[in-house]
Amino acid sequence: MKYKLCLMLFSIAVLWQGCYYDNEEELYQHVQDEPCNVTTATYAADIAPILLAYCTRCHRNGREDGGVNLEGYDKVKPYVNDGSLFGTTNHDAGFSPMPPSTAKIPACDIEKMRLWIADGAPNN
Ligand code: HEC
Repeated sequence: MKYKLCLMLFSIAVLWQGCYYDNEEELYQHVQDEPCNVTTATYAADIAPILLAYCTRCHRNGREDGGVNLEGYDKVKPYVNDGSLFGTTNHDAGFSPMPPSTAKIPACDIEKMRLWIADGAPNN
């Protein structure tokens, strides 16, 4: 009921405000711009936080699911080199999809990982 009332008041406000259309356009534009436009990524600023958010829950010191530890650059690098860090995260054929049983991590984070690896996966 409250919701309907809000909607009604909102509609009236919309009808009265000629500028609403412009606002909507701006909003829509913002949504369109949403796909990430990152061009570089570093281990410290991008990759470590991504791994912390989605991976180290199961791959860390003290819990190494599948024998994999992703805590720290030196531990992560071998999985870059054998292609499994990206392959699992991007759900590529031939790799166990990670994180298991869930959707892929956000496309922008995968893109950051791709850029960092393309850059030689430096410890930066
Ligand atoms: C809920 C726990 C869990 C999370 C979260 C998780 N993993 Fe895993 N991971 C596993 C388990 C269990 C295995 C071993 C079984 C398998 O391979 O499916 C594994 C295996 C792996 C392997 C070796 C398998 C292969 O195909 O080479 C890699 C690499 C890996 N994970 C990377 C990641 C990355 C990167 C993330 C984050 C994007 C992640 N994992 C998140 C549980 C997890």
